[in-house]
Amino acid sequence: MAKDVIIALDFPDMQQTLTFLDRFTGRKPFVKVGMELFYATGPDIVRTLKARGHKVFLDLKLHDIPNTVGKAMRVLAGLGADICNVHAAGTAAMMRAALEGLSSTDGKRPLLIAVTQLTSTNEEQLHNELLVNENMNDTIAHYARNAQSAGLDGVVCSPLEAALVKQACGAEFLTVTPGIRFADAAKDDQSRITTPARAREIGSDYIVVGRPITAAADPVAAYERCVKEFLGI
Ligand code: C5P
Repeated sequence: MAKDVIIALDFPDMQQTLTFLDRFTGRKPFVKVGMELFYATGPDIVRTLKARGHKVFLDLKLHDIPNTVGKAMRVLAGLGADICNVHAAGTAAMMRAALEGLSSTDGKRPLLIAVTQLTSTNEEQLHNELLVNENMNDTIAHYARNAQSAGLDGVVCSPLEAALVKQACGAEFLTVTPGIRFADAAKDDQSRITTPARAREIGSDYIVVGRPITAAADPVAAYERCVKEFLGI
């Protein structure tokens, strides 16, 4: 399985996104398009990034009734994204509908992964706000197993939970992990975080890195530092 660093393109418009990517001369980083950019630009952003040679993780975290999610996924499948996602909290029925919506008759489809618990959520919020009685790790392992039995390819989770997910679902089940910070940097609004090097040791397949790269004085150097720490090259 090819491990990689995915840059979260959390920008407000197409122009700023492309200006940012133009700094990476000769490189085509794997990128993530989230809600802000997708809602601002519409589907064109995915087609544009694919045409420029990037792999795209379309991070829209769908969570609705199964019929709606299935139909929405059918539309997204046509854009050529490499990875799409849903919230595991939407139930196994919703995840199965998402998978069906993504699958085309020739058997090809983007990878589908499920968000277990957002990396900004902490244990206190899980219990007192969301009224989930189980602890964070048991909740994540359970959501990951639900996603696997629904046929999904992996989960989005904190890098701190990658080993737990692999233990619950096997080595081939993908772990895509935001919540990455350099050892010498701020946490921002993230809770369950670690460094690229530690994420590699724990077993993440893909790390998703936003502000440590996009807000860096030298984003290309920050990206290269991530690649070096995570891939060891
Ligand atoms: O800037 P930062 O590195 O915190 O960005 C993390 C990115 O990963 C954001 O785009 C955020 O929406 C996304 N993400 C996350 N936690 C999840 C799923 C996605 O932080 N569980």
